[in-house]
Amino acid sequence: MPPHDRSRTRTLALTALFGLLAAFLLPATPAAASAALREHAAARGKFIGTALATGPLANESAYRDLAATEFNQITAENAMKWDATEPSQGRFTFDGADAVVGFAAANGQQVHGHTLVWHSQTPGWVQSLGATAMRAAMREHIAQVVGRYAADPAVVSWDVVNEVFDDSGNLRTSFWYNTLGESYIADAFRAARAADPDARLCINDYNVEGINAKSTAMYDLVRSLRGQGVPVDCVGLQGHLAAQYGFPGQVQQNMQRFADLGVQVRVTELDVRMVMPRDAGKDATQAAYYRDTVNACLAVTACAGITIWGFTDRHSWVPDTFPGQGAALIYDENYRPKPARTAVHDALAGGGGSDTTPPTTPGAPAASGVTATTATLTWAASTDSGGSGLAGYTVHREQGATDPQLGQSAGPSVTLTGLSPATRYEVYVRARDGAGNQSPASATVAFTTATGGGGGPCTVVATVQSQWGNGYVVQPVTVTNTGAAALNGWTVTFTLPPGHAVTGSWNATLSTSGQTVTARNAPYNAALPPGGATTFGFQAGRPGGDTATPSGYACG
Ligand code: G3I
Repeated sequence: MPPHDRSRTRTLALTALFGLLAAFLLPATPAAASAALREHAAARGKFIGTALATGPLANESAYRDLAATEFNQITAENAMKWDATEPSQGRFTFDGADAVVGFAAANGQQVHGHTLVWHSQTPGWVQSLGATAMRAAMREHIAQVVGRYAADPAVVSWDVVNEVFDDSGNLRTSFWYNTLGESYIADAFRAARAADPDARLCINDYNVEGINAKSTAMYDLVRSLRGQGVPVDCVGLQGHLAAQYGFPGQVQQNMQRFADLGVQVRVTELDVRMVMPRDAGKDATQAAYYRDTVNACLAVTACAGITIWGFTDRHSWVPDTFPGQGAALIYDENYRPKPARTAVHDALAGGGGSDTTPPTTPGAPAASGVTATTATLTWAASTDSGGSGLAGYTVHREQGATDPQLGQSAGPSVTLTGLSPATRYEVYVRARDGAGNQSPASATVAFTTATGGGGGPCTVVATVQSQWGNGYVVQPVTVTNTGAAALNGWTVTFTLPPGHAVTGSWNATLSTSGQTVTARNAPYNAALPPGGATTFGFQAGRPGGDTATPSGYACG
């Protein structure tokens, strides 16, 4: 059955509603360099959205005003998740969800429902059900939550399943998978289609923006599900990026390959965090990543739009999850627009930006003062003629598809810290201007750090979160940089009791040799500033009757 007949009706109704509202509430300015993001996006046939948090939505007029004027699409940051909508079995609470949907409807914005089936923010009562009861609870939850908004013209789409892959691209061994097997995914989509035949149904995940093992696993799953008639209409690329890790490779090509399967593509949770404090160079890198994401979506017809995961640095999930990092959004904590807002605006405006000329290529860097963990690079400066001025430089490690950023500077020299001892680095430099334009890469220079020195002092504290007869979850495992220099990568080792085996992990890559497990940072949590901390977790199985848990945690 064609799924989107009512979506078209909804779109028409929303367009009419927005036109009416615009006539009365918005300034009658044509889309211009200073126009709202939503006006430019609409002119390009895309949505530009934001995630709304219910606290500031209720309490801050500046938050409401910007959310209403800048965006034409809304996702609830937390209010539609399972722990908010069905905290105990059969007791459904929609206060927060209704507040978000009501705000969107009043402002002519479409709503994307987030999220129905996820391993996180799902109450304990669901996780402890047996297979038959869990499948029934999942279907009932979907029926109730999707059903509530099925006739609401504002709510047009849903994240049906969220983050079903682990970081390597295997199906995540979540409680859903462990209890129900892979079939829970198809089941969830079928239940959502039954609850609202017109809603667009999405699969959503992170680290799938570019072409890599995980996005390829997602591509294979979507193709396989659709081949079996499972109603997957849309693919959500979350887009949680970091200025220090480089821009993902082949984003546009990745979107296009999904589009070629016949599904809609959308960027669902875009933000670009940075190691604090902010400076002009990091702002310029961030602006460029926002711009490049918008441009990739604009270049792919089947990309419906971009949702930014919030809009003000005043309210963002980043500092809580990545201590020492933040400033990920397009407005600062005082609601002042950042260069990233200009970049999104100019990209949506399509040539409306004043400066599209990148700086000249920096000279080849020269390495000096190389120690076990540091190296100084100097290079001939770039010049910028586009008008926005040279904003700074970023230094990248040549590493293949995604080249991590090792450092940044305002001038043509930087001392890299937190390097690994006895390691060969091939690095290059790029310049950025104030509009986020990026120069070509300089020539590379190679150097090898000295031996000794260690990866820097760090501590690790592990907590057994829950355990049952033949398994347990260890979370959080908190890694803290106790040294004076930044860490760019960390390793934790621990010992598994005999007969135990790791069955899943998140926020780190685990490998086991004998009874020794080695956990290495994920790309997105490698950087730890002095005093900074991050967490990962894992699940393990053990022989029935055994009550032992791992020991001997060490960090390096
Ligand atoms: O509501 C409680 C509050 O009562 C309590 O006092 C407070 C104490 O910590 O916690 C509040 O709940 C927090 C909730 O956000 C609402 O603020 C949770 O602790 C916190 O864990 C939760 O974080 C959310 C996170 O998902 C949970 O996994 C973030 O706001 C939200 O931005 C984030 O969003 C996810 C997407 O859904 C899926 N993709 C990744 C993305 C970022 O992690």
